Amino acid sequence: MMQRVTKAVFPVAGMGTRFLPATKANPKEMLPIVDKPLIQYAVEEAVAAGITDLIFINGRNKRAIPDHFDKAYELEAELESKGKKQLLEIVRGILPDYVNCIYIRQSQALGLGHAVLCAEPAVNNEPFVVLLADDLIDAEPGVTQQMVEQFSYYNCSLVGVQDVAREETNQYGIVVSQPMSDRLSRISAMVEKPKPEEAPSTLGVVGRYVFIPRIFDHLRNLGRGSGGEIQLTDGIVSLLKEQQVLAYQYHGKRYDCGSKLGYLQATVEYALKHPELAEDFAAYLAELNRERGSL
Ligand code: UTP
Repeated sequence: MMQRVTKAVFPVAGMGTRFLPATKANPKEMLPIVDKPLIQYAVEEAVAAGITDLIFINGRNKRAIPDHFDKAYELEAELESKGKKQLLEIVRGILPDYVNCIYIRQSQALGLGHAVLCAEPAVNNEPFVVLLADDLIDAEPGVTQQMVEQFSYYNCSLVGVQDVAREETNQYGIVVSQPMSDRLSRISAMVEKPKPEEAPSTLGVVGRYVFIPRIFDHLRNLGRGSGGEIQLTDGIVSLLKEQQVLAYQYHGKRYDCGSKLGYLQATVEYALKHPELAEDFAAYLAELNRERGSL
């Protein structure tokens, strides 16, 4: 029987070392792109795909994300008394009422695979999606919806992939796969961060997954992998031995907001599309370009 996907897991317990000191007291996923934190973009993408249960895997700095999605009585009262209706709507509209938030603590950052395993008690025996909020993907419909649609057809685990530049294969999990259709292929192997000259392909894994619950059994039985961490990639490789896992090449533009350059690119491009800012910001960039050209 086909099951609807209603649960999403957001691992937000990473150390975010590439953004220190900004991530010393705040999770990386709370960094804003223009006026919304990364985690909110990911949550909106999940909710648009029909997800109703949001499961956050929190680490140190565990308060900021629950606070962001919680009701803010004092702030709302203040905005209301000042008649700031529009802002009040923005603050109240962060999450629809029917959505539930569940917070689970990953007490030690033992890796992404371990973070996903921490979600097991809340996921139960259902298929679920995983979103890494630092991969911000601009797409319509959102990538989660694209993948949930594929899941409803194939009923097996799916990994979001993107064709990456060969010189960048050492930043990604790379899949070996046999094409099935335009955007789908059957994964036969995965290699974590291969050197460009050794990479078996240029299809890189990005932060969107759909899993069947069987993945938990595989994660539970893993030892520490590269970097001493329990790697999600190793769990997928183990799952592959008994079941088909598909690579899905999504439609959309991705920004690697876990890196400073990707974060800045997202900021500039989202600002250029922001209704309040687009015109003034474009004028500013043009002016800056002229100034720099004359240097
Ligand atoms: P990254 O590999 O980007 O690591 O994690 P990081 O610690 O967040 O960032 P850097 O590399 O030190 O700058 C990928 C995703 O997995 C989550 C992170 O929050 C991020 O969404 N993660 C990673 C966990 O939740 N727990 C972990 O133990 C490791």
